[in-house]
This record gives sequence, C-alpha cells and structure tokens, in this order.
Amino acid sequence: MSVLFQTRKYLFRKPFNNTFCKYVFLRKNSDVPRKFVTFDEIVTQRRLEAQRSLVVQVNSDSSFNELYSYCSKYASINDIHHYKNSGGEHFMLIEFESEDNLKEVLKSCSAHNKDHDMISVQSPFVWFRAAAGKKEKLVAHEKNLAVKNGLEIINEDVLYQELMNCDTVSDQIQLMYDRTTLNDLGIRLRYMVARQLEVIFSSLYSNVRVQPFGSSVNGFGRMGCDLDLILTNTLTEEMSEGGRRLVFQEKRCEGGRGAARHVELAGALLELRVPGAARVVRVLHARVPIVKYAHLYTDLHCDLCYNNLSGAHMSELLWQLGALAPRARALAVLVRRWAARAGLTHAQPGRWLTNFPLTLLVLFFLQQRPALLPPLDLLVRYARKEDVRIAEENINCTFLRDLNKLPPESYGQNDDDLETLLFKFFEFYSQFDFEDKAISINVGKAIRKPNSLPLYIVNPLEQSLNVSRNVSYEECERLKLEVRNAAWHLESCLEGKRADDWGILGLIESKSSRGLKKLLRVGNSHRLVSMKDIFNDDDEPAVEGIRAKLQKYVKNDKEVEDSIKEMKSEMIKEKKSDQITFKNTQTKNEVYRIRRDKIV
Ligand code: GTP
Ligand code: MG
Repeated sequence: MSVLFQTRKYLFRKPFNNTFCKYVFLRKNSDVPRKFVTFDEIVTQRRLEAQRSLVVQVNSDSSFNELYSYCSKYASINDIHHYKNSGGEHFMLIEFESEDNLKEVLKSCSAHNKDHDMISVQSPFVWFRAAAGKKEKLVAHEKNLAVKNGLEIINEDVLYQELMNCDTVSDQIQLMYDRTTLNDLGIRLRYMVARQLEVIFSSLYSNVRVQPFGSSVNGFGRMGCDLDLILTNTLTEEMSEGGRRLVFQEKRCEGGRGAARHVELAGALLELRVPGAARVVRVLHARVPIVKYAHLYTDLHCDLCYNNLSGAHMSELLWQLGALAPRARALAVLVRRWAARAGLTHAQPGRWLTNFPLTLLVLFFLQQRPALLPPLDLLVRYARKEDVRIAEENINCTFLRDLNKLPPESYGQNDDDLETLLFKFFEFYSQFDFEDKAISINVGKAIRKPNSLPLYIVNPLEQSLNVSRNVSYEECERLKLEVRNAAWHLESCLEGKRADDWGILGLIESKSSRGLKKLLRVGNSHRLVSMKDIFNDDDEPAVEGIRAKLQKYVKNDKEVEDSIKEMKSEMIKEKKSDQITFKNTQTKNEVYRIRRDKIV
C-alpha cells in the first residue's frame, strides 16, 4: 500500500505500513475524499499502534517462529518487525491486533528479579527467555517478518555510489531523502519509547501523555535523529467539567520552577524505574528545562521536557507545511545535511545555527513567488474554532489544521524541479540582506530587523522572539560564504562534465575526505582501506606505512604526497578537538568512530 502525495508536477510515493494505512487512509464510502490527513490523526494512529505493541529482546532474527508461536497462543498478531541495536542485540517489535490482545500477553509475562536492588516494573519492553526443558511445538503459520534489520542505516559508500549513478541532481535530492529519512520502524520505536514513559509515569500523574515532537515527527527527520519528548498532563474536558462536585485535592509545586521540578523528578524516575534508560543528565536551568538520556534498547538519544506545548505545535506546523509541498521536505533534508557538512550546524548547541532555524530558512525561501508554500498568516486567517490552541505562557498556537480547507491556489504555484529549487535557495540567500532584514514565515516576506543581531529569524509562534538569537556574527558570515560556495558549485556542475563531486555530492562530502576516498578505493568495490591499517594504535600517522599502502593503489607520486598531507592535517584537526574532555570512554569512542568514518 502506498500513499500518493500529488503536487502539480511530482507524484511522490511513500510506503507506509498496512495497518497504519488501514486506519488513516482508507475511508468509508460516505466520506468526502480528502487530500490531506491532519497531524492529529497521524499522532492518534501512531499512539494507538504503540498501545497495542510490545518490544521483545530475542536471541536473533531466527527467534521469529518461536516468538510468533508463543505469542499467538495469547493474542492475534498483526506484524513483527526485527531490528538490531548498536550493541548487536536483537529485538522484535510485535504489533497485536488490539490493545486488549496486548493486555492478555502482558498478563502472561513474568518478572526476573534475582537481585534485591531490582524492583520489578511493567513496561512494553520485555525479553524472551529460552524455553525451559523440552522445546515447545511450533504453531503452523504463514507469516514472515514484516522487516528484518529495520533500523539499518544505509552505508555511506553505497549511498555515494547510488548518488553518483543518478541521472539528474533532482533525482539525487529525492534519492537522498528516500534513503535517509526516518522509516516506519524508526517512527514506531519512537512512539514505543514515549509509551514506556507514559505507562511508568501514569501512577504519578493523572491523564499523563508523553509524545514525540521535533524531527521525529515533523517530516524532516533522518534515521537515527534524536528523540524529543514532551510530558503533559492536560485535563480532558470531562475531567474539568464544572458540574462535578467532588474534586481531587491537588499538590501545588512549592517554591515555583514547576517545569524544572517535574523534569527533575522525571530524571530520578528514568534512573530508577525505566528499563533501558541510561546516562541521565538534567539540564534544569535552560529556558526549557530538559532531561537527556540514552535509550539502550532502541539506540535513541532522548530529550524529555515538561509541558512545552508550543514546541509540539511548532513541529505540527512544520509537518503541515511539508505536507503541503513534499518538495520542501526533500529540500530541507538535503540543506540540513549540507549545513552539517559545511560545519554550519553541530551536534551541540552553541553560537551557530541548529536544524530548526535552518528549516525555517528553507520554508521561507519556498514562500517566495511563485510560492510553493503559503505564509503562516494565511493558515491563521483560515483557522476555525476547533483549531484554537493556547500553549504554556499563553502562547497562541492557533492555525488551520485541516489543510483541505485551504484554497488550492494559495500554495503549490511553483513548478521548479528540486535541482532548480536547490540552486535558487542558495542564490536567494547569497543575495539576502541579512544586515537589515529579518526572515518571517508568518508574512512570507523579509521584514525590517528590530535589532542588530547578526541573524534574525522570527519565531513563528512568538513573533517577538528570534529563534537564531544565539548565532554569532562570524557564524552568520560563514553562512553567507557557504551559500555562495554552494551556489557556485551547483552552477559549475551544470556547465562542466561529471566529476566525483557531481551535483549534491560536492555539497554533502568534504573535499579532503572525497580525495582520500578516491585514493583509498580498491578497484570498483565499495571497500576502502581501513584507517586501522593506516594509523598505529597511538593515533600517530606512520607516514612510511601510509606511503607504502597508498602506493599499492595509486601510481602518481604527487597524489600520494598530497593525500599524506591531507591525512596529517586531518589528524592535527582531530588531535586539537580531542582535547575536549568527554563524559566517559564510551562517548569518546563514539566520537572517535564518527570522525574516523567521516575520514574513510
Ligand atoms: P534535530 O534534533 O537537529 O534533528 O532537529 P529538530 O527539528 O528536532 O530540532 P530541535 O531538537 O532543536 O528542536 C525540537 C523542536 O522544538 C523543533 O522541531 C521545533 O518544533 C521546536 N523548537 C525549537 N526551537 C524552538 C523555539 O525557540 N520555540 C518553539 N516554540 N519551539 C521550538
Ligand atoms: Mg530534535
């Protein structure tokens, strides 16, 4: 089954899971045909899916038959998805037919607390114990795994080769999006991690809800992106009905700082009560207090905040704009990747851009005439009573949710292909007057800058704020330089013949690593010479060894000398950044691994 997103020129086909489609996209005959589903509908269906799912740690993917056979004794199974985490452990996400089915299965689970420090806890993450004694007879069935190794991220060399083989730059951009964007299992697991917290926190908060937001759900996320979570306990209409005379006594948060205190408590619960949660770090003095943790069973880095509803509505807004113009998603995913490679964005926050304001830059560009996207003001103008949302601190997050109600002529007026859009994006910002103008997706036009901060991007939901207030003068200058370089690169691609940095390759891969790749590639295969073969354990480049190895693959002495110089400078750069102190050796090793993979 597939969902068709039709724009004037493009037909985008995105695979979705069967069950998911059944609920979201198949409608009764009596329904009026609709082009767009709402964000709320998608969230509701994903949450329901998580409420009838279980993640089971197994021995390997061949445990499928035994697990299927065992669980089908208790309940009907929709599908089983397999994945491995970075520790090489195997897991299966089972989606049952109903939540009641899952309850039956949970009733049959046992605890395993041999250790006195361990107090048993129920959550949707379990493990499958080896059968005691004689092996049970397997139930006959015709099911197969819905997906095997479902979290595998495409190998960079394979990706580069596929990009190299594309016919057009537009194909490259689309391929990049299709190959790297968050897949169905990635989304399911994010909702499972949210569900786990919801189940565990529900004994402390009434009507608790934990929900993913940010790039996990806004349509711009890549495989492996961080998981932003929001904890809320908003009352239902029923619960706050005035006619009910018996009202629960409640506890006011003494000493103020409510959000920070709740986040602090969540931190303690994560440490003590949430299986799979590790490396818990509280960031309580930020504007939005968060607790960061790693979820070991799913390999996710999570940021949990309390009641930051405007952040969740912001994700909804980005998702909606992406739904109006699927080309916006493909373009933004590429621009995010380009910015990371150009060193404009970094994993840690600082005096530079992050992915969120960068995405606003893309959306703003697409609002320019002929416009692919409408200004946010238009969505606000068309909002109805049911679209009213007031978030924390009275932030007004009201805008039209049902995009079917938007006049079709207010968006999609641009027929440019992705290549043209990308080029025009870089050209647009090469000429943008950053000194005097601010970017506002509310009006879709550049407006006068209210202050002299180097980069001014209006916060769409709180228009008095600048989402890029942290960006320094130097970083803004670098942005201007990099967009000019990128425009120049794309322009020269159109004129010149195909080289190894053809099209988007020159934007997403640094020149030095491309040079090294070229030199180290063995024949036509994707296999490269390992860095381990080249450097000693103490990370000192064994120059003679490198020379000998490189000479095996290339003839030209100058190429060998150049590549050694590049390697040395990479090593010096790495050494400099190695002076950073890491939280623990695992993080340090991870950073080293990422850098090493970047090089070779
Ligand atoms: P990556 O995590 O880098 O993949 O991107 P992201 O889109 O998830 O960005 P980030 O984790 O920094 O922020 C998470 C979400 O919070 C964003 O997608 C926005 O929806 C929202 N957000 C970020 N900054 C602000 C802000 O200043 N105000 C509001 N209301 N929401 C914000
Ligand atoms: Mg995020």
